[in-house]
Amino acid sequence: MVRMSRQVNSKTQIRVCSSGDENVLSLIGQATFLEAFAGVLDGQSILAHCAGAHSIERYRSWLADSRYKLWLAEISPGNAPVGYMVVSPPDLPLLNLSDRDLELKRIYVFSRFQGQGLGKRLLQKAITEAHIYSAERLLLGVYKHNNAAIGFYTRMGFHKVGTRKFNMGGLECDDYIMELALASESVHLENIL
Ligand SMILES: CC(C)(COP(=O)(O)OP(=O)(O)OC[C@H]1O[C@@H](n2cnc3c(N)ncnc32)[C@H](O)[C@@H]1OP(=O)(O)O)[C@@H](O)C(=O)NCCC(=O)NCCS
Repeated sequence: MVRMSRQVNSKTQIRVCSSGDENVLSLIGQATFLEAFAGVLDGQSILAHCAGAHSIERYRSWLADSRYKLWLAEISPGNAPVGYMVVSPPDLPLLNLSDRDLELKRIYVFSRFQGQGLGKRLLQKAITEAHIYSAERLLLGVYKHNNAAIGFYTRMGFHKVGTRKFNMGGLECDDYIMELALASESVHLENIL
């Protein structure tokens, strides 16, 4: 496992996305969402969600919006995408939102490449970005039954601060809202990264 971890990490590059990446983001966004939730959530709702939330146009608009930052993880040889991440202004039903908050809107790694440190490397990029913007919190919404992701977020220092209803392709899902307090996180980060 340790050898595999080193292998994947040494072969995987994480880069910031720019205009022109909308097609690849749409592809990996849909593919990873389908992979994560097939057999868990309703298939037609997954497809409806992907058609909108992972459309080329959606990613094109985010890439054109300076408030959004997107990353791709690509593996060599070939530089095929194996993961991606989106950080955005917060769109979460919390009463105490401020302009010092950011949302970890999406973080997905293909299952073949999970559990080998890539998610942590992606999150490290988001945290570095949040520090650049002097953000105080990184927030996220996660399906309340997605125990694996919640385990990852908890290990990374997030904790639950609320709940929301999330419309996933017409299906109402219960999500947890989680927070990573960035002011106190720098010490912790030295431990986890
Ligand atoms: C969540 C996800 C991005 C995490 O990425 P990953 O590459 O698998 O995670 P890493 O290998 O970098 O793990 C980092 C740390 O979290 C821990 N961790 C990972 N999954 C965990 C789990 N289910 N429970 C507890 N800890 C976990 C690891 O052990 C590791 O700890 P360490 O630093 O002590 O070694 C990835 O699993 C994924 O894409 N899942 C499917 C999509 C998804 O659910 N995305 C989130 C939607 S809200």
